[in-house]
Amino acid sequence: MTLDLIPVGPLDHVAIAVHDLEAAAERLGGPFGIGLSHREEIATADVEVGFLELPGQTSIELVCPLADGTPLARFLDRRGEALHHICFRVDDLVAALAVAKRAGLDLIDETPRPGARGALIAFLHPRSVGGLLVELKQKGE
Ligand code: CO
Repeated sequence: MTLDLIPVGPLDHVAIAVHDLEAAAERLGGPFGIGLSHREEIATADVEVGFLELPGQTSIELVCPLADGTPLARFLDRRGEALHHICFRVDDLVAALAVAKRAGLDLIDETPRPGARGALIAFLHPRSVGGLLVELKQKGE
């Protein structure tokens, strides 16, 4: 039997849902001297993101809803400020999604969509990955 494995690279980031980017950055990055290095509105997802990062290391993404009633706002209502997703890097997102589909996983995004910093991203449904929301990311230029 051959397992159809999704070819992932390193863990790119872990993402935490927060109510306020600045306050969360101070709380989570402050003790380590790490400030927000990039922030960006992803209007198509109704979120603003900010990154806490050290060069060459897995970063922490803070995700904040842009409006009430959006999926992320509802997540925060249910779970509070908590781990929202993890993200693996992939070389070829279209190929990775094809493998995921063949393996019978549920995809939130059947095709890549734009993420922060010009990257292409897609999410796998938590029910396919032990309850964890997983993002796949192909780096942009
Ligand atoms: Co992310």
